[in-house]
Parts: sequence; structure tokens; C-alpha cells
Amino acid sequence: MKFFIKTYGCQMNERDSEAVAALLLSCGHEQARNENEAEVVIVNTCSVRDKAETKAVGKLGILASEKRPGQLIGVMGCMAQRLGAGLVAKLPGIDFVIGTRRLGALPRAIESAAEGARPFIDLGEHGADDSIPDAHLYGDRPAGAFVNALFGCDRRCSYCIVPAVRGHERSRPAEEILREVRELADHGVREITLLGQSILSYGRKGNAMPAGHVSPRGFTEPFPQLLEAVAGVPGIRRIRFTSAHPSGCTKELAAAFATIEQVCEHIHLPLQSGSDRILKLMRRGYTADEYRKAVDRLREATPEIALTTDIIVGFPTETEEDFEATRAFVREIGFDNAFVFKYSPRPGTAAAEWKDDVPPAEKLRRNRILLEDLDEIAMKRHGRRIGRICEVMAEGPSLRNRRKWAGRTRDFMNVVFDPPAGIRSGDFLNVVIRRATPQTLYGEVAP
Ligand code: SAH
Ligand code: SF4
Ligand code: F3S
Repeated sequence: MKFFIKTYGCQMNERDSEAVAALLLSCGHEQARNENEAEVVIVNTCSVRDKAETKAVGKLGILASEKRPGQLIGVMGCMAQRLGAGLVAKLPGIDFVIGTRRLGALPRAIESAAEGARPFIDLGEHGADDSIPDAHLYGDRPAGAFVNALFGCDRRCSYCIVPAVRGHERSRPAEEILREVRELADHGVREITLLGQSILSYGRKGNAMPAGHVSPRGFTEPFPQLLEAVAGVPGIRRIRFTSAHPSGCTKELAAAFATIEQVCEHIHLPLQSGSDRILKLMRRGYTADEYRKAVDRLREATPEIALTTDIIVGFPTETEEDFEATRAFVREIGFDNAFVFKYSPRPGTAAAEWKDDVPPAEKLRRNRILLEDLDEIAMKRHGRRIGRICEVMAEGPSLRNRRKWAGRTRDFMNVVFDPPAGIRSGDFLNVVIRRATPQTLYGEVAP
């Protein structure tokens, strides 16, 4: 059957959608160009904020109301895991619901739904993990690929739904990760992004690295060892990872950035708040000063490392003073880019028990102010890049202007440039940076 997957949420969902597409293709299904032509439409959902769920529910509602005879509609991802059969009750047009650890059940779900049986629901209640861990190769590979390293999350940040929908933390054995990376590299992939909600915890709870592994650089911590091992795969030119937590920003991680050529000079290190009182209520496990020290360790080894972050405004009880502490801290650290989110209570989390007492208009105001600050800070930091020659990995035509192309620097800046003749996705170019906006650099390809 012809299938189409619509993906919401984070890179984990993007990777899962690719894995599912590869699996369905290997079962003889075909990829549709769009949802109208699809016989099976699968919506891969996110639960992290109320808005993410509202969007997916809206989309499913439209799909269900326009459903053609014989067409199937399925839901996967975090909201599927969270709501399960409740989704089918709400939207009777839905034919199957697959949990985050049950991706391997998709071919069966389609088969069973096509037979006109009752909606197929598999959330993995019996603990079985069937998450298609391995390489998802099909068609033309893009130059970069996401690779799972750590599933689930064992932190219990008070606001966060992710542990409930992605399960407890499991480190994938390094041998499996390396096998997938090798296969991707053989197919032309040059950039690997290792994924995990709190990826620096990789291997901390047991043997992810093979017994007797000897690190050439003498690393004793599993994540720096993993970075080193991935860098050893021929063909891999860039390694990234996301998301990081300050507790994992050790001397060894700093050394990995400084000494492993392939590890790119960028870290996504969510801050959430600059107020210690709020950080404590969030159960983030660090103070602003500990965050500062983590950044200092990384900058000492790699002075120009780019830093991006996530911040939540309007957390329960957040006062003007807490918010000002965040503003001051953000200015002090100096981020190259940041996402700002308005707090949204998630059912079942600890924070959802507390009164959501910052009014929506105030959340919006704090969000706007912080974004303005961040733009100003980013512009100052981008200034140093103007006139420099940066290595850019070409991705494809720019979304805003199809005559231009876009790509990323090693430090994760988006660069827009005039494409030289014959350019291909995955080409590495040297680009002279001429101009900067808060989110984008503009440059010319150096001869
Ligand atoms: N594991 C990552 C975060 C994953 S969720 C980490 O800890 O770094 C991505 C971002 O969504 C978070 O960093 C946080 O800023 C935001 N977020 C999570 N739950 C939220 C909620 N209930 N309301 C608003 N933003 C939230
Ligand atoms: Fe959520 Fe915290 Fe885990 Fe990130 S580290 S996924 S915010 S519980
Ligand atoms: Fe990602 Fe959203 Fe799930 S952020 S892990 S898709 S809740």
C-alpha cells in the first residue's frame, strides 16, 4: 500500500519516522508523495506541550473527516503512547495506534486494519521492546543521519512528560551503534547526530561499551569513549549529539570536544531557568552556578564552542524576580541560539499538581522579552563570524529563497549562499561569511 508519514516533535520522532518508512518499504509498501495519494496515513505525534498535541489531534480530525473508503489512518509516537485507546474513542476514524516502543508492529497493524478488523492498538503494555534499532537505509541518503544512542529518560524533571511516554533509560550497546554508523557511512552519510534525551548519561548504568574496551585517549567515561569510537568509522566527518545536561559536561567531555576532530564545536545544553528556586522546583539537578561551571569547562578547552539552549517561561510560581534572574544569566552565558517555551502543564507530571499561576498574557510577555534579548545576544556573537571562512555542509535549497542553498557550519549555524554549479546535498564547501541575522548567516562560496 502507499503510505505517507506526517511527523511532529523532536529528532527522535524524525528518526523513528525514517525507520518506519524503511521497514514498510522492506515489506513491499510504497512511499506516497503526499497524504492525498496515500492509502495509509500515519501521524507521528509529540506530547511535550499541550500545543503539540492540539496540532496533531487537529490534523487527525481533518484526516478522519476526509477519509476515503479503504484508506487507513494510524497514529504513532508520544501522544499515541500517552492516550492509546482514548484516541480512537475521541476520533473513531483512527485504524491503528502504535506505542513508542512498538514500531516493529507497524506492518502487522496495517495488515490487521486493512482486513477491517477493529482498531489495532499496541502500546507494549507487556514490556516488549520492538523499536527497530537498526539502520534505516533507503533511497538517496541525505548527508546527515540521526542515530539512537540512549532510549527513554530516567530524570524526572517535574514538568516533563517524556519519561512517561518514552520509558526508562536504556543505553544501546556501542557495537550496535557502530554497526549502524558504519552502514550509514558506506551509503554516503558524512554527519552523525547521536540521540538521547539526556545523552551524556550514556552507559553510566552499565556495560554499553564492550568489555575490555581500551580508549586510545584514555577516556574512562562511556560517552566520550563512544564519541571516540564513532569518530573512528571511516567516512564520518562530523559528529553531533543532543541533548546534553550540565552534569555530563565533565573534563573528559571537554577533552573530547578539543581532541576529536570529528566532534563539532556545538552543544545544545538546555538551561530551562536561571533562577535557582525555579531550577529546584523543576528538579533539574543543577544550580545556575553549576551550569556556569559546566560551560566554563567546555569553553576552557574549546573557547569558541557554540552554545544553544531551551528555556521555559511561566513555570508555576515564577516571579518577575525569577524571570529577571533568567534574563541576566542568559546575558552572562551568551547563547548562539535558543528555544523559548511557555510552560504547559502535562497530565501526570509533578508540576501539573501545582497551580499554573502565571497568566497566559504574562507568559507571552516573558517569552517575547527573552526572545528579544536572545536575538541581541546572538547578533553580538555572530559578529565574530563575519569575514571568516567556515566549512559548510550543503543541505539543499533554502526554504525562504529556492535560488539559494542552505547548509550548516560545524558550530551549527545555518548559512545561506549562492550554489555553485553542480552542487549536491552533502558537499562540503568553504563559505566566507558576509552578513548575519539572529538565526542565519549569509555568505559567498570561496573559490
Ligand atoms: N531531554 C531534553 C528536553 C526534551 S523536551 C533535555 O532535558 O534537555 C524539549 C524541551 O521542551 C525542553 O528542554 C523544555 O524546554 C521544553 N518542555 C518540556 N516540557 C515542557 C512543558 N511541560 N512546558 C513547556 N515546555 C516544556
Ligand atoms: Fe524531560 Fe528532564 Fe528527561 Fe529532558 S531530562 S526528557 S526535560 S525528564
Ligand atoms: Fe520528542 Fe515530543 Fe516525544 S519532544 S520525545 S516527540 S514528547
